[in-house]
Amino acid sequence: MSKVLIIGAGGVGGVVAHKCAGAPEVFREICMASRTLAKCERIRDQLPRSIDIARVDADNPAEVVALIKTHRPRLVMNMALPYQDLSIMEACLATGVDYLDTANYEPPDEARFCYKWQWDYHEQFKELGLMALLGCGFDPGVTNVFCAYALKHHFDEIHHVDIMDCNAGDHGHPFATNFNPEINIREITQRGRYWENGQWHETEPLSEHKTFDFPGIGPREMYLLYHEELESLVKHLPGLKRIRFWMTFGQEYLTHLRVLQNVGMTRIDPVDYEGNKIVPLKFLKTVLPEPSSLGENYHGKTNIGCMLEGIKDGRPRKVYIYNICDHAECYREVKAQAVSYTTGVPAMIGGMLMLTGVWRGQGVFNVEQFDPDPFMEQLNQCGLPWVEQVLV
Ligand SMILES: NC(=O)c1ccc[n+]([C@@H]2O[C@H](COP(=O)([O-])OP(=O)(O)OC[C@H]3O[C@@H](n4cnc5c(N)ncnc54)[C@H](OP(=O)(O)O)[C@@H]3O)[C@@H](O)[C@H]2O)c1
Repeated sequence: MSKVLIIGAGGVGGVVAHKCAGAPEVFREICMASRTLAKCERIRDQLPRSIDIARVDADNPAEVVALIKTHRPRLVMNMALPYQDLSIMEACLATGVDYLDTANYEPPDEARFCYKWQWDYHEQFKELGLMALLGCGFDPGVTNVFCAYALKHHFDEIHHVDIMDCNAGDHGHPFATNFNPEINIREITQRGRYWENGQWHETEPLSEHKTFDFPGIGPREMYLLYHEELESLVKHLPGLKRIRFWMTFGQEYLTHLRVLQNVGMTRIDPVDYEGNKIVPLKFLKTVLPEPSSLGENYHGKTNIGCMLEGIKDGRPRKVYIYNICDHAECYREVKAQAVSYTTGVPAMIGGMLMLTGVWRGQGVFNVEQFDPDPFMEQLNQCGLPWVEQVLV
């Protein structure tokens, strides 16, 4: 029975608030804080029970410290942007509160995400007996748990992992991103990266692609990307020989993206505009639809899962574990599209397991470091049922 502070009132934050509000036996009290108070008000007005709301600029650790001291949560769930990860972790250390997020830190002026900045806090969290859980969305998050579950129940060693993320939904806009446009476009315009035989290999952005027949959806073209869970899984899966991440994109999306890149609208360095400095990608974000606004007319499904190959009792084994999620059903339940839903539900489950002491540690952790079974059980109960197929 605990109070939780949710920072960030966007698409994902809204889902977390809905799901925590639906589990009062764990999340006794909820405070939601974000940069724009009106967004907290909009979410608060949709919920079945009352919550506190507040305005905060989470780039400023002093503001987060003051907010935590006022509301006294046991756990801070960071559903704002990766830029705020370190300032919120600092505030948690200063106030003695646990921390959870869904995306690893990246510096605003450099499109480079990696866990080092947050893993470096391990000793400080450990010394204070606090816990930080990183990357507890779907990918990263559930995909890491799928790997831990496969290792526990199906394999002696996992050798190959392909994480495959397909969104076959249609939101009716010519171009929109399913989570924060700035973070999303920074991620997919980077060079591709995968790990094989002990080394990282780089590819030109979106140059490697192949077709996969996604259950419940059908064949889709998927593109190799670098994604943050590769970094932690390489560290935590013994015997791994190769791990890659794939995401599907439609031709319409790719054409828009190419044009935006070609005309300079995805640049993250400031340019002079009529005497003011503006960052083109930040400006682009302001004219694109907000992820939290996409849900109403969204239809179709997502399928995200892991194809795993390795050995069990000296024999080859291949297992596919995935979840299918329906945009319209998510909207009916929590007024959000499936990408926000598939991120927010695992964040709520991670928070629940931390607050109930089922997942407990002192320091900074990734989700694959804990027992996957209680998390897998909660996925089935909380709206993200999964399927496992033993193929070999
Ligand atoms: N692991 C996964 O599977 C996964 C998948 C999708 C997304 N994500 C992550 O989830 C996070 C949220 O995504 P989203 O789609 O919900 O984005 P979003 O709709 O843009 O929401 C972000 C929210 O954070 C708030 N915010 C931004 N800067 C802030 C600051 N300095 N102080 C306080 N609040 C601030 C924003 O406020 P304003 O609106 O006022 O700017 C907005 O309400 C992102 O970090 C994204 O990378 C993870």
